[in-house]
Amino acid sequence: MAILKVVGMTFTCRETIMLLFCIFISCLPFCSSVTRNDRPIIGVLAQEVRSPKPNQNSYIAASYVKFLESAGSRVVPVMINQTLEEYKTLFNSINGILYPGGAASLTSSGYARAAKIFYDLAIEANDRGDFFPVWGTCLGFEQLTVLTCGEKVLVNTNTSGVALHLEFTNETANSRLFRGFPPELMKELASEPLTENSHKWSLSMSTYNSNDELKNFYKVLSTNTDGKIKFVSTFEAHDYPFYGTQWHPEKNAFEWTKPYIPHSPSAIKTTFYTAEFFVNEARKNLHRFDSEEEEKGALIYNHSPVYTGGRGSFEQIYYF
Ligand SMILES: *[C@@H]1O[C@H](CO)[C@@H](O)[C@H](O)[C@H]1NC(C)=O
Ligand SMILES: *[C@@H]1O[C@H](CO)[C@@H](O)[C@H](O)[C@H]1NC(C)=O
Ligand SMILES: *[C@@H]1O[C@H](CO)[C@@H](O)[C@H](O)[C@H]1NC(C)=O
Repeated sequence: MAILKVVGMTFTCRETIMLLFCIFISCLPFCSSVTRNDRPIIGVLAQEVRSPKPNQNSYIAASYVKFLESAGSRVVPVMINQTLEEYKTLFNSINGILYPGGAASLTSSGYARAAKIFYDLAIEANDRGDFFPVWGTCLGFEQLTVLTCGEKVLVNTNTSGVALHLEFTNETANSRLFRGFPPELMKELASEPLTENSHKWSLSMSTYNSNDELKNFYKVLSTNTDGKIKFVSTFEAHDYPFYGTQWHPEKNAFEWTKPYIPHSPSAIKTTFYTAEFFVNEARKNLHRFDSEEEEKGALIYNHSPVYTGGRGSFEQIYYF
């Protein structure tokens, strides 16, 4: 019989295994807290307002902030028109970034410029093993296509105000994004109009299939059609934690301004499982602010959202 002698005590083989097992178990919470960041902070990109006023030059719709906060993240606004150095410092302080929907130019806005800087920094970081997730919603999804293939290859679709069910692809089951969704919710997403679309531009499947840069970078997880054109509605990158939805996961729970925004229990679950997924991705990143003071000064808590009275698309907006 194998025998282990430790500080004058003698253990049998079975006792040794039990001892090692106990050490392993007691180490687990410690080990996982080292590689998981339970205080994630995600940047949300601001964009130009259509008619600027004093103190209202750029904005973030509050629903994107609530979306991330609902899953346990704090939010930092990423202002437009900052220097490259400022963006680099911020990049190394936050754990992920979200490009919201809206109407900024995909090629010449402050939104597009900042999105490109963070995209390039994220590629570089992920390449050296510094996991940094990027999420694009609607305009943000479209911005990702421009950043990946270097040009605007979108086509016009009749999708500016409609809730749709998702047409899942054969890639969905093995996707990172949808893997943690409850099977029941996946069935509902595939059969009920739970995803709200507010876009005039889309990445058509035929463009995707003929564009090697997009095809090599992203796998398509769902498609939709406006009756004529089949377009990509959800994608994730093959080799990077980059995700995009042409639909709006944040609106179901947090926007009440349009009759076509779904608010059923399954629609609300769609908001939360999507947020939970992305915030969990951000928990894998260990960037942090240099000091607690810097962190406090950067958080969106320093700003107050304005109730817009349901005019336009958003209930509440942060103006900068
Ligand atoms: C950003 O810079 C552009 C070009 O210099 C300027 O027109 C715009 O007003 C600036 N916007 C904000 C929000 O600072
Ligand atoms: C656009 O889609 C809506 C349904 O979402 C439909 O009622 C309308 O007729 C369509 N318009 C065109 C020009 O196809
Ligand atoms: C999914 O289908 C496409 C087109 O039919 C095919 O090229 C691809 O290999 C399939 N992927 C998987 C994971 O089965």
